[in-house]
Amino acid sequence: MGIVFVTREIVGDALERLRSEHEVVVWGGPLPPTAGELRAEVAGADGLLCMLADRVDRELIDAAPRLRAIANYAVGFDNIDVSAAATRGIAVGVTPDVLTEATADLAFALLLAAARRLPEGMAAVRSGEWRTWEPARWLGADVHGATLGIVGYGRIGQAVARRAAGFEMEVLATHATDLDELLARSDFVSLHCPLTTQTHHLIDARALACMKPTAILINTARGGVVDQVALAAALRDGTIAGAALDVTDPEPLSADDPLLRVPNVIVLPHIGSATLTARSQMTELAVENLLAALTGRPMAHPARA
Ligand code: GLV
Ligand code: GLV
Repeated sequence: MGIVFVTREIVGDALERLRSEHEVVVWGGPLPPTAGELRAEVAGADGLLCMLADRVDRELIDAAPRLRAIANYAVGFDNIDVSAAATRGIAVGVTPDVLTEATADLAFALLLAAARRLPEGMAAVRSGEWRTWEPARWLGADVHGATLGIVGYGRIGQAVARRAAGFEMEVLATHATDLDELLARSDFVSLHCPLTTQTHHLIDARALACMKPTAILINTARGGVVDQVALAAALRDGTIAGAALDVTDPEPLSADDPLLRVPNVIVLPHIGSATLTARSQMTELAVENLLAALTGRPMAHPARA
């Protein structure tokens, strides 16, 4: 029996299984624990179930002498210093597969919403500004038959490609097409790569300049993949037509962030995996990872760099 600290309240009943074998402490606050609060909570913990908003760095790991298992409640793990954990022999697990389809659905929702200008149309209806059927207004981009560039052709990228087939889109992906060529040819560019030192600011001013002025950028991966200062400038000066982001750096953006000032951008509160099905299954996988590592077995879903 060990102590497991869970950094937020999560859905699904798998935590009960964890409770039957370990003492489980769940952080009850509406906001994540601060770095200091997290350090205090992990000081006596054997296991940690954490969110992508929790920074698990070397300092935190050093403050947790008993820690043997970290289960990230996400498929990405850029919030965790995996090499610091490995040095201590601490297993790190993630929740792949179960959120693939939900995240791909959201990427497509963003693509369609940006292409057909749904937020602008809704705002005009709600404000009463819309007065009559408009023959020449609200013109959007064709999705059917357009070219979609997928950056990062892993599980989620491939799931987006399957949806694109239904819209008879031409799909280019970075496993087969050079990034600059993909950027130049795509009407929509959707990001699905992990955030690493190689992909940090992959979409910078130079990359944005490769894109068509009519193109729309969709990001459901990590905010850090995009240079947001360059993106705000590109949207303002018409280098690209629009952006639809489920992820930003930081999260949330401050209310005066330049990105929230440009009209042709959609920003969501990082909801790619936010369906009850996906989140319940993420709880299952996180609990399985913890139960395994705390009894000395390998995690079924380890973080792999
Ligand atoms: C969500 O962003 C995740 O990595 O699961
Ligand atoms: C549009 O609503 C149409 O009927 O063409």
